[in-house]
Parts: sequence; C-alpha cells; structure tokens
Amino acid sequence: MKLPRQFFQPLAIGAPSPLRELPVRLERMIHFVPPHMEKMRAKVPELARQVDVVLGNLEDAIPVDAKEAARKGFIEMGKSVDFGPTGLWTRINALNSPWALDDVIEIVGAIGNKLDVIMLPKVDGPWDIHYLDQLLAQLEARHKIAKPILIHAILETAQGVNNVEAIATASPRMHGMSLGPADLAASRAMKTTRVGGGHPEYKVLADAAGDGPRAAYQQDLWHYTVGRMVDACAAAGIKPFYGPFGDFSDQAACESQFRNAFLMGCLGAWSLHPTQIAIAKAVFSPDPAEVAFARKIVDAMPDGAGAVMIDGKMQDDATWKQAKVLIDLAKLVAA
Ligand code: GLV
Ligand code: MG
Repeated sequence: MKLPRQFFQPLAIGAPSPLRELPVRLERMIHFVPPHMEKMRAKVPELARQVDVVLGNLEDAIPVDAKEAARKGFIEMGKSVDFGPTGLWTRINALNSPWALDDVIEIVGAIGNKLDVIMLPKVDGPWDIHYLDQLLAQLEARHKIAKPILIHAILETAQGVNNVEAIATASPRMHGMSLGPADLAASRAMKTTRVGGGHPEYKVLADAAGDGPRAAYQQDLWHYTVGRMVDACAAAGIKPFYGPFGDFSDQAACESQFRNAFLMGCLGAWSLHPTQIAIAKAVFSPDPAEVAFARKIVDAMPDGAGAVMIDGKMQDDATWKQAKVLIDLAKLVAA
C-alpha cells in the first residue's frame, strides 16, 4: 500500500511546508477541559461557541485512576459535539508514560478526522516529535484520515529549551509550541511553587539615589524562555504560545503575563479557568488604537518603502511590516 505521506523529513529553517497552507485560525485561548468529568463535558457544546480551541486534557492534573476515563470522555466529546470552526485538541500523556501509546492509537482511531492538534508534553528533543510523527502517519494511513493531525510541543524541560530550534523544525506537522512554566521551573530547580507569572522575590533594586528609598522592580521570570521560543517558532514558521497561569484569583497578573507574551510575539495562551477566556480574548486581539495607527502607516506608505513622519514618529519599511502584523491580526479577529 502506498502511504499517503511521509512526514519524517525535518524541515529546513523557514522552509515552506504544505501543512503551512492550512487555513490560518485564531487560537487566542486554548481552553483546557478535564474530560473524565461528566459535568465538565456537558459544558463543552456551549464552551465551543466561546473559545478558539477546546483541549481535552489527559496529562497532568488528571488523576492516575481517571486516565482511561479521561481518554474515553474525550472521545465521546469529540464524537458528540459539533465544534464548527473551533479547534479540537488533546494533550496526551508523556511519551514515556504507560498511557501515551493508547492515547494516540485510540483517539486517532475513533475521532482522527475531527482532531486538529495533539499537544505533546515534556518534549526533550526532535526525537520525541519524530516518534509521534511516524505513529500519526501510520494511523492516518490505517484510518484514512483526510487531514494531517498537527503536533504542538510543550516547552517545559531544560533539555527541551536547549533543543528548541531542533524541536521547532522537527516535522512539517509542527503547529507550534507553548511555554510550560510549571514543569520547566521544576526541571530547572527554580525555587518557586507557582504556575507561570512572576515572583515577588525576582527583582532588581534601582540604583541608590542619595539617601532616598531604593525601589525594587520585579522582573519577568519567563522573558528569556519566551524570547527563545518565539525566535525558534518564527524562524520555523510555526506558532508560539504562553502556557498556563495558575493563580486564578489574580486576574490582573494573568493579564499582564499574557500581555508580555503577546507583545513578544505569542499568539495565545492556555485558559484553565472560565475567567481566563475573556482575558486571553482581550489580550491576544490587537488594540483598536494600535490598529488604527498601523493603518495610518500603511496608508501613508502604499508600496511599503521609504520613510514618512506620522505624529512625530519616523516610519519606514520595517514599521510598515510591523503594521501589517497588527492589521492582518485585526482582519482575522473581525472575520
Ligand atoms: C504545563 O504543562 C506546565 O508544566 O506549566
Ligand atoms: Mg507541564
């Protein structure tokens, strides 16, 4: 039998891929659902109308004795709900766990035609992506799946960060990557018990000004990793995301962390609680005032070249390209 596709070939950096021609979708919030809980599954049809992506979580936060029920619940959810334009993703268990193989085989066999993306946790290097890539190619051929299932890696081990560029280009199936700050903190032996966000002790003191007080400024613990991830993703033509923000009681901190990620190039974040849906929607949609200014730039430079002054600020070929990013995103949000 002729296999329909062979995805094992690693991508050259920035190489165009047939998969990249898939429709561009808004993925501002990847909303996590625990599929073993019937009460939560019952909310999914309504949820699917509010979020860009629904993700059935099978990995961390799902108790060991509920792993099978979560997988079955996700399959039931996938079969019974009409997701329309909303993305349907799952986060499977880690490849070295007892559940990962059955997660992939059973889910692709049952709802492979509806599944858009598999989120793969604890990715250490391109070998993890290659394994899943081949397994998916076999299952897609067996079940005559029409549309390739994409892979989204969680960047959450020190080794993964070390290999971030190789992971991003490991397969044309790569959809993108999310920062996993909780596991990454553990992997690096960072001294925190938080899931994402800042830490009150991670700060620098302002220079001493005479005898005056020395203000302390809190720093962003995740700046370095988000920067590396965004560069690796942009170079490979895949999408970067912030992951979870665990303190549901602090919506302002969640918004601020998501906004930093958005400004640095991320396209979305995970929502683990209903309040985070609206936060992500607001943060990862461009600000109308910024879009209006971007339109002024494009209108003033129709061919995208040269230099003009707008409101006292110099604009040139580079800011024209920046403006296009905001305008294209605004069009996608409005569509
Ligand atoms: C997510 O999986 C994380 O570890 O932060
Ligand atoms: Mg994790």
